[in-house]
Amino acid sequence: MERVLITGVAGFIGSQLAERIHSKGLEVIGIDNFSTGNAENLSNLVDSRHFTLFRGDILKLKGLSKAFKDVGTVFHMAAQSSVPKSTEDPVQDFEINVRGTLNVLECARKTDVKKVIFASSSTVYGEASVLPTSEEHPFLPISNYGAGKAAAEAYCSSYSSLYGLKIASLRYYNIFGPRSRKGVMFDLLQKLQKDNKKLEVLGTGREAKDYLHIDDAVDATLLVAERGKLSGEAYNIGSGKSYSVKELVDKLLKILGLAGKTNPFYTGFSWLGDVQKTLADISKLKKLGFKPMVGIDKGMKTFVDWYRSKYGEIAAG
Ligand SMILES: NC(=O)c1ccc[n+]([C@@H]2O[C@H](COP(=O)([O-])OP(=O)(O)OC[C@H]3O[C@@H](n4cnc5c(N)ncnc54)[C@H](O)[C@@H]3O)[C@@H](O)[C@H]2O)c1
Repeated sequence: MERVLITGVAGFIGSQLAERIHSKGLEVIGIDNFSTGNAENLSNLVDSRHFTLFRGDILKLKGLSKAFKDVGTVFHMAAQSSVPKSTEDPVQDFEINVRGTLNVLECARKTDVKKVIFASSSTVYGEASVLPTSEEHPFLPISNYGAGKAAAEAYCSSYSSLYGLKIASLRYYNIFGPRSRKGVMFDLLQKLQKDNKKLEVLGTGREAKDYLHIDDAVDATLLVAERGKLSGEAYNIGSGKSYSVKELVDKLLKILGLAGKTNPFYTGFSWLGDVQKTLADISKLKKLGFKPMVGIDKGMKTFVDWYRSKYGEIAAG
């Protein structure tokens, strides 16, 4: 049975990727330091004899290298995953996202690992000059988080060229769905739970982003690992559709039965480093056979249902 290692296995994407790979009958090894990861995300896996969890930090090379024993493929998902935190503490962001990635690549080249799939981000493009944005667009990050992901991608490229490792960087856009405990949708639900008469929304409402449901993101991740060109290539992982924050707010209020009852108001500014408009050109991913299956409305419903099951009801009216 092939062994697959997932760093950041207790996180939003890592845990759902782990479940999918495990369901294919593969042996899954996970490592996480639980800084933002959640033990509950692993509840479907912990009792399986085909799942092994290392509680550890990717910054500690010795412990990390133990997790690489007999591993064939690595999905490197562990990261400091917040743009605002990368503004507050650029050094810590660099340590985890750049040095941490270098550690993973070092372990990979010193063992029998055949493939490394790296979780990069669309933030490497910054405020893209062309929409939809293809993988050819230059790196012009406007956040430290984006800069760190770009630097880590550069190492993926050099390690692929120098040591013959098969590597791809996945530039995830806004991935949403059950277990996502950050981002605009989670933030809005938390606020509505406290007070559903009014809703403060950061920004102008005109920011427009590419959202992809977690089920599709996992599909895309596995597709690249199985069929992608792995010579340090990058792939946009998005839906190819963009929605404004105002549209999201309207959809959310409708799902909750709060349309016309809650008064949304916009602060006019978002957080530093926030890209205002994103839209992925996903032609390269489509050539591998990718087709997003979960639309925004159905996807948001799955998210709201999950939120209610974890955090309780948001009373209508
Ligand atoms: N969710 C998105 O929309 C999105 C978009 C672009 C890129 N990404 C990238 O995809 C990956 C997964 O994102 P996510 O949304 O699941 O984030 P997440 O924060 O839920 O998961 C990251 C996981 O990494 C773990 N981790 C952090 N530092 C670690 C360390 N030093 N050692 C070991 N484990 C550590 C955390 O505990 C967490 O479980 C990240 O690399 C992120 O930057 C995510």
